[in-house]
Amino acid sequence: MSKLIIRGGNDLTGSVKINGAKNSAVAVIAAAILCRGTTILENVPQISDVKILLNIMKKLGIAIEWVEKDAVSITADDDIDSSAIYQEVSSLRASNLLLGSLLGRTGKAAVALPGGCDLGERPMDLHIKGFTQLGAVCGTVESRYIQAEAQNGLKGAVIYLDFPSVGATENIMMAAAVAEGQTVIENVAKEPEIVDLANFLNGAGAKVRGAGTDIIRVEGVKELKGRRHSIIPDRIEAGTFMSVAAVTGSRLRLENVISAHLKPVIAKMRETGTEIRCAGSNMYVTGPKRLKAVSIQTLAHPGFPTDMQPQMMAMATLAKGTSVIVENIFEKRMKAAAELTKMGADIAIDGKTAIVKGVERLHGATVRAHDLRAGAALVAAALAAEGETVIENLNIIDRGYWQIAEKLTDIGGDVRRIDE
Ligand code: UD1
Repeated sequence: MSKLIIRGGNDLTGSVKINGAKNSAVAVIAAAILCRGTTILENVPQISDVKILLNIMKKLGIAIEWVEKDAVSITADDDIDSSAIYQEVSSLRASNLLLGSLLGRTGKAAVALPGGCDLGERPMDLHIKGFTQLGAVCGTVESRYIQAEAQNGLKGAVIYLDFPSVGATENIMMAAAVAEGQTVIENVAKEPEIVDLANFLNGAGAKVRGAGTDIIRVEGVKELKGRRHSIIPDRIEAGTFMSVAAVTGSRLRLENVISAHLKPVIAKMRETGTEIRCAGSNMYVTGPKRLKAVSIQTLAHPGFPTDMQPQMMAMATLAKGTSVIVENIFEKRMKAAAELTKMGADIAIDGKTAIVKGVERLHGATVRAHDLRAGAALVAAALAAEGETVIENLNIIDRGYWQIAEKLTDIGGDVRRIDE
């Protein structure tokens, strides 16, 4: 297991280039399966979630080639396999997005039940409901994999999502893109990554309207054609570096940022006393001498993103006053709390609420990254703490952050990576 060793307290300064969005990349990569010919995706981060997904697709018979450090070419011929039911598939949450694309391209799909970060119950019922309404026979087999088959082809339908699930919206949108007739998906997720996927699909010949609003309308087309597409910047990586600047009282310039995607994060960070200035695709973030306490609750976009909740918790540990953090999206997403407590934080958890009483300083400790964003929170806290912090289970951070140690070292962090 790899680990990150961070000696806190350094003044950080300089620029960080934000990579393409993990959550957008995995969806668009899966959607490339729907396209005839070659798709070239730019601004793709070489994080392990992306590499694992590409590897699974290679095993399905899809040609994958990195054409540049951050650009990948994907060619899915007609004779691709539609079954991915082995262990590697379930190590990744995003593998569930293969269901919609394989179903759309081949009329059937079998994909191992997805894993990924353990954030509590992560059911697939909305995905299954959507595929079923599009005319597929769909269900979970032996609690191991989901199988879907549309023997008579996919047919447009009106689908209402009980919750605006990101994955279900993406999966249904992909299948509907090549279904016969019109599909209307109501109460959909509105995240920027949904819009990026819709833009990709439309560039490939799909007719998807309304992405970014509550209702998406899809006029099915016969086929999609591979194209070139650039993945949007990662708003969560940007938010993580914003939290790093904020908690260490540093000034950082973030490049390749779409500030409109970060509105709820910017608003809450400003409440903490962090100065944020946006200029084109650059963002300048300056942390105050001492942060102010702030209360947040996570919600579906455009509410405060659950993927930034642990990093805000790290900030709250050092803020003046008491912060209240409510996690509404995932039931087990407070795992950073116990680790931050080992560093001297004062956090009480009551169900989905964390009460964080700010302390004046954190100290180094040996802590564990239990999930991706909890790991990111520990990195931010460690940079602000006194002494040395060892963050174990670095592999989980590698799932979503490309070259994190290098990026932090470049801005003056005392950060070492140990790969064992
Ligand atoms: C995506 C993101 C993840 C982010 C999350 C919420 C990717 C690859 N991952 O995950 O980083 O934290 O959105 O913004 O894009 N739910 C159901 N039934 C379903 C599907 C979901 O009840 O069929 C529930 C989940 O249990 C959860 C909530 O809906 O409570 C949100 O999940 P969802 O939006 O689907 O998250 P993911 O797509 O898995």
